[in-house]
Amino acid sequence: MSTSNLFTSLKIGDLNINNRMVMAPMTRNRAGDGNSPQGMNIEYYRQRASAGLIITEASQVSAEGVGYPGTPGIYDEKQVAGWQKVTQAVHEEGGHIYLQLWFCGRISHPDLLPENQTPVAPSALKPEGEAITLDGMKAFVEPRALEINEIETIVRQYKNAAEMAKKSGFDGVEIHAANGYLIDQFLRDGSNKRTDSYGGSDENRMRFLNQVIDVVLEVWDSRSVGIRLTPENSFNSMSDSDPQAHFSYFISRLNTRDLAYLHILEGDMMSAARNVDYRALRDAYYGIYIANNGYDYERGQQAIANGDCDLVAFGIPFLANPDLVYRYKNKLPLNEANQATFYGGNETGYIDYPTAVEKTAATA
Ligand code: PHB
Repeated sequence: MSTSNLFTSLKIGDLNINNRMVMAPMTRNRAGDGNSPQGMNIEYYRQRASAGLIITEASQVSAEGVGYPGTPGIYDEKQVAGWQKVTQAVHEEGGHIYLQLWFCGRISHPDLLPENQTPVAPSALKPEGEAITLDGMKAFVEPRALEINEIETIVRQYKNAAEMAKKSGFDGVEIHAANGYLIDQFLRDGSNKRTDSYGGSDENRMRFLNQVIDVVLEVWDSRSVGIRLTPENSFNSMSDSDPQAHFSYFISRLNTRDLAYLHILEGDMMSAARNVDYRALRDAYYGIYIANNGYDYERGQQAIANGDCDLVAFGIPFLANPDLVYRYKNKLPLNEANQATFYGGNETGYIDYPTAVEKTAATA
């Protein structure tokens, strides 16, 4: 049991955060030219700065890491200039913000990649389903298995991105090792069939992640670096033969890193099933644990009171309610989220969700 609740402050590394409500990373596909954050992106994050911590939408570490149209990058100076305005706006409002580092791997399409190159993965296994391209949905292609020297190149891209994130003024970075993107493709044995030092044993499947952590920690203090994992999310054709055992091992290794936090999307984005004992994973981790996936006010309060997590990451509730902290605190009803405007488009469904105060003024 814990005497904390969603509105209790907490120290993460050197950051004093005001509450335990994290804005979960959410892809919104609204970056500007050159995959750089633009005006409406600045306003979107500014509006949500009362979250204890914002984790940005996933941001590719290189042009080769792209998997969707309109997602922001974190690898060149123009992108840094855009992100600097985002971090400044959030800091002016008293908020804190981490950037999520992303490389999509096989969840991409030649149409989205430089010189129409074939997407890469640990193994040449084609995911089910379709990629979102600028010309609509297209079937995923069989990815090319990475050569060892190419893995080293991608690790260097993570280091560059970590430097760019620092220059952008972020409070930290989250390594996206979840949801079927490249790092997760290495971690889980359904997508990693390698027979070299990057496949087979738990240690080998974690090698790429460990190398990414190594280079990110050359740039950032460990307690400004979080990590996101998804032991059993089947999204993006993912599977694993023994998530409880495999992720217990990964977490035991992460314990040696003294990171800012471990962020877990519990269960499956595609169904309500939960076959992993998350309390056991949480208890195996020595540091701060952020729980995510379908939490609301009641479940979030309960999870913190039970000691099941230290913080709760809310996705759609923050998307539709910039003042979610105020609303939860005052037990006010929430705006309804409009699914049609989640991905891509303009300001509509992005920065026009009213705060409770604005809503009251409009109806007075
Ligand atoms: C998505 O664009 O659907 C998406 C991106 C990143 C995630 C999960 C989903 O981690």
